[in-house]
Order: sequence, then C-alpha cells, then structure tokens
Amino acid sequence: MSALIQSAPSKLILCGEHAVVYGQPALAVPLGDLRAYAEVSAGTPGSGLSFVAPDLGEAWYAHVKPEHPLSELALAVLAFFGVTQADLVLRLHAEIPLASGMGSGAAIGTALVRALAAWFDQELPPTQIAELVYASERRFHGTPSGIDNTVVAHEQAIWYVRHVIPGAQTFTATIEPVVIKAPLHLVIGDTGVRSMTRLPVGAVREAWQADPPRYEALFAAIGQVVHRVRTALADGNQQFLGALFNENQALLEEIGVSSPELHHLVAAARQAGALGAKLSGAGWGGVMFALVTPDQRSTVAQALHQAGAARVIATTVAST
Ligand code: PMV
Repeated sequence: MSALIQSAPSKLILCGEHAVVYGQPALAVPLGDLRAYAEVSAGTPGSGLSFVAPDLGEAWYAHVKPEHPLSELALAVLAFFGVTQADLVLRLHAEIPLASGMGSGAAIGTALVRALAAWFDQELPPTQIAELVYASERRFHGTPSGIDNTVVAHEQAIWYVRHVIPGAQTFTATIEPVVIKAPLHLVIGDTGVRSMTRLPVGAVREAWQADPPRYEALFAAIGQVVHRVRTALADGNQQFLGALFNENQALLEEIGVSSPELHHLVAAARQAGALGAKLSGAGWGGVMFALVTPDQRSTVAQALHQAGAARVIATTVAST
C-alpha cells in the first residue's frame, strides 16, 4: 500500500483551564488551520514500528523505546485492532507550536491514531480515539482533565465538565457542543517559553492542598465566568465576551499560573484595543490570545510582535 496521511487540529482553551481539573466547566475550540500530521507507510520486513518525528527532534524504533508515549499509543492502537505484528514507518509533523498550550500532544496522538485506523481500514468513533489518546496524554501530563484529547478528537467547539469520582482512578465527562453565534476573531501570541503542563498543574494542586477554601473559591469563580462565556457565545455578545476573558485572566493570575511574559503580551493586546485577552492552557509560558474585531486584527498582531511574541497567529473560529 502507498503512504497514507491523516491529520488532527490544534486547540485553544477559551476559558476554564485549571479549574476544569477540579470539576468546573471549561470551553475549548479546535483550530482547523493549524494541524498535526501522521503518515504511515510500509517498513522493511521485521523492522516493527519506527517513528520519524523531526519536529520533536527524534527518530526511534518502538521496540527500542516501548515506554515512549507515542510508541505506547501506537502499540495500544494495534492491540485494539488485534494486530500483533506490523512493519510500519510513522512520520509525524506538527505545524503547532510544541508545549505551548495549543494541544500539540493531543493533535499528534490523534493524527497517529487516525492514520493507523485508516491503514488497517478500521472505523474509530471520536470518543474511542479520545480515549486512546487520553491514555497516552497521561504519560506526558499525569492527570489531565481530558479536555485536550476530547476537543481535538471531536474537532468541534465543546463545553467540557469532568466529574471526579472520589477514590476512583476513572472519571466521567459531560461533553456538549457549543453554540457560537458570531465568528470569533482571535490573535494568538506565543511567548516562546515552553510550558510543561504538569508543572503548573502540580503547583496549583499543592497550593489547593495548602489552602482548600481559597482555591475552591477561585475555581468556582472561574466556573461562573465559563457559564457566562457560554451565554455570551450563544448571544454573539463580543464586548461582554472580551470582558469575561479579562476576568478569567485575573483569576488565573490569582491562582499563580500567569508569567511576566504572558502578562506582558496580554497587556500589549489590550492596549492595542483588543476586546479582551487571556492566557490559554496551563500557563507559565505557552500562548495567550486576544479577542478582536476584524478591524483590530493587524494592529493587535503588530502590538504582540512588538511586545516580543515569538510567533503570532491570527485565526477565526467559525460560528456554529
Ligand atoms: O497545556 P494544555 O493546553 O494542555 O492545558 C492544560 C489545561 C489544564 O486545565 C491546565 C490541565 C488539564 O488537564 O485540563
């Protein structure tokens, strides 16, 4: 068979990050024009699975690095299909800034699962893909909420609530499509500082354990903002939406996951006239985004460049 390519989108958490780990709702959107790609082709007989991932600066054989999260994921997918031996070359490529809060890990994993499914002529529903990718995300992040793999695998805007079952290893989630009345024009600024999700997530956990009432109040306040964002999205109320993103940013700063670089880019976007701006994802680095009107787009993009953003991406989330 000739080589076969599948892809998956990046994502942006609009609001609710961190609090979502503690059972509050969050909203996330896929970004279809910034993607990860996986190509499968036949390998030499007896080679097993080999990976070529120039963006990760890596090339490896699954049997040499079986503990690599992507080896584990591919082997889990093959086991799921009942395939015990396959000689395949898996080439991975991402347009998405890595470790920046845009879901590069989930996108690469999802593209890989989709490509293997296509190679073996298998139909996998998004929920199944999300589950397979979640297991591998756990290797990168510890206890992810599941929002990344879900929004990427479903490739649609979602309202996500994780229901923690006390004492249990597993959890359930409410996943609902989100109504977006008016397109969202976003300008994303990458601080260029790579962010390892599990570090800020771990710091928030420690802070919560040290002062549960304070942190639970902050998580609840974020949850309230997310509810109002859902309403503003459904109403197409962009001014209100911008104000809510600013409010969410203030709460994220209070829980300690912003950084001087993020703060600086957020301030620059607001000064340039953006309707609102906040960090997105785990924080301490990675990206922020600004909500703008189409007219403001180039001014805000320029302001982010001038403020030192390593990369600026303008994108539009379509209405639903
Ligand atoms: O770094 P990201 O974009 O994968 O964001 C993680 C979002 C958190 O809410 C901080 C953690 C999680 O698992 O939901």
